[in-house]
Amino acid sequence: MNNELQTFTAEMLPVLEQEMRSILRADRANDAFYGMMHYHMGWVNAELQPVEVAAGKRIRPLLCLLITQAAGGNWQQAVPAAAAIELLHNFSLIHDDIEDASPTRRGRETLWKIWGIEQAINSGDAMFALAHLAMTRLADRGVDPAIVIHALRRFDETCVALTEGQHADMAFEKRSEVSVADYLAMITGKTAVLLGLCGELGALIAGQPQNIVEHYAQFGQHLGLAFQVKDDILGIWGDESRTGKSAATDIITKKKTLPVLYGLSKSTALRDLYQQTQTDETFVRKTIEHLNQLGAREYATDIAISYSNTALEHLHAAQPAGLAAQALHQLAEMLLKRDY
Ligand code: IPE
Ligand code: IPE
Ligand code: MG
Ligand code: MG
Repeated sequence: MNNELQTFTAEMLPVLEQEMRSILRADRANDAFYGMMHYHMGWVNAELQPVEVAAGKRIRPLLCLLITQAAGGNWQQAVPAAAAIELLHNFSLIHDDIEDASPTRRGRETLWKIWGIEQAINSGDAMFALAHLAMTRLADRGVDPAIVIHALRRFDETCVALTEGQHADMAFEKRSEVSVADYLAMITGKTAVLLGLCGELGALIAGQPQNIVEHYAQFGQHLGLAFQVKDDILGIWGDESRTGKSAATDIITKKKTLPVLYGLSKSTALRDLYQQTQTDETFVRKTIEHLNQLGAREYATDIAISYSNTALEHLHAAQPAGLAAQALHQLAEMLLKRDY
């Protein structure tokens, strides 16, 4: 028996994919420039031949479309915004994989691994600009021009916040003193604001007043905090065959993820280990042993649950309606339980 989330997903995702393919010039999927972007989106393989697998979860656009619907709008009108957000996310991942030296994503080689860092930077740049252009399509769907301009401004502001978060994430690799407050500011930027934008734009397009828009934005942002903490957990204890990402990368690059920060605050032995410059397999194994002993996974899990609960309080305050409201609750639950 399908739940509401599955029903909406089956209806929305094909429309979203079509919009994104049109923005990324489906007619040029075979040429080297657009082909690299199609590869990253999971539509073609490295030989630029069509494939069925390897796309992302598409949770941001789903969130945006479901919120438009639950806030009394028509989700079809918000498709350009949902597509733009997913493309922005994917641009950030193309660059993130270079920044984090990540060899795999979604179970395949990362773009820079196949075509080199220089071409991957260029591909990300193009996808960023195309994401911005995608937003202007809102005007073609009858969205009030004043809302389109406001939405575009918020889109760009969010992108600046995201790159500021990425700056902090990289800076923290080389810093031994990182507080939980520093960490929260960092993940708010690199991850949560984009999920917040999904809520904000969905409610704006549905024509909601500012106080309701703010509740949807906070719903998305808190889901985003829970989402990143969960990503931190999966980055250490996840099954690579499920996550599609290397489980050692975060520790090798000394990322200050929440479980690691907790471990460092509780254990001198782990702090000593983190003085070491060489981060080989033994370093990864020892780090995980410490974290297991300290209960770092349980600590982080509780925090993710608590952010998810705060998100649901904001959802409740926004008074979502209809089947899309049910689907939003199911999405929040799914994000917490996910193992990929
Ligand atoms: C990965 O995001 C990056 C983070 C912000 C944690 P997702 O887990 O949504 O990635 P895909 O798009 O589904 O692969
Ligand atoms: C996610 O970064 C945030 C952005 C890409 C903006 P991470 O580095 O934490 O995500 P994964 O684990 O590589 O997907
Ligand atoms: Mg990163
Ligand atoms: Mg990364």
